[in-house]
Amino acid sequence: MLQGLLLAALIDLVFSSVAKDYGLTVCATAESELSVQPEACHKYYNCSDSTPRGGLSLLGPYEKMCPYPQLFDATELKCKTFKEANCGPNRIVFKDRCDYTHNGCGGHCIACDSMFPSCVGLKDGMNIYPLREWTPHYIQCDTERLNDTYVCSPHHPSGTSRLFSPLKSESVFLSGKCQTVKADGLQAAKGNLMVTT
Ligand SMILES: *[C@@H]1O[C@H](CO)[C@@H](O)[C@H](O)[C@H]1NC(C)=O
Ligand SMILES: *[C@@H]1O[C@H](CO)[C@@H](O)[C@H](O)[C@H]1NC(C)=O
Repeated sequence: MLQGLLLAALIDLVFSSVAKDYGLTVCATAESELSVQPEACHKYYNCSDSTPRGGLSLLGPYEKMCPYPQLFDATELKCKTFKEANCGPNRIVFKDRCDYTHNGCGGHCIACDSMFPSCVGLKDGMNIYPLREWTPHYIQCDTERLNDTYVCSPHHPSGTSRLFSPLKSESVFLSGKCQTVKADGLQAAKGNLMVTT
């Protein structure tokens, strides 16, 4: 937990060339309600929203984030789908759900990336839930964004539970699917890493 906070603070430090209270400067002179945050494409300033930020918030005054995985369009000044948004120059496009985390976790959190794994570098569609291989859990990715996390439904009509089996060819991960695996079949399936039925 502390590690997560420190890491978040460190990431903030490394990626931040913009001061955290830059929104004060922007909103002192801005002619419109909304302005781009110059550094991250999912962030913007809303000068009408002066909601105070808690001490653990990663956001500065007036700073806001689009809902994941949307981005803030620099010309239209609104949140749009990541496929449509125009970021303008030098604004970083973050792809992980955890890059959109609003707050530090305030004392009782599970590390964000274990709840919302990264899809960066993964293909579209069903993928292994990292560190939960050979369980019913899997994730869906779309253009390196996490669509959602899922649990395999039981086999119908027997009710037998199913596991998410990775499909690999050589060492290349192809896909995966929900599959009933007999207890004695699991070791064999894992050994092969090639499940075709
Ligand atoms: C900006 O803040 C105002 C006041 O809270 C709110 O009504 C409006 O919806 C906000 N707009 C955006 C795009 O955040
Ligand atoms: C991701 O979600 C969107 C909207 O729910 C859906 O249209 C799209 O097909 C999904 N993509 C993948 C790869 O599952």
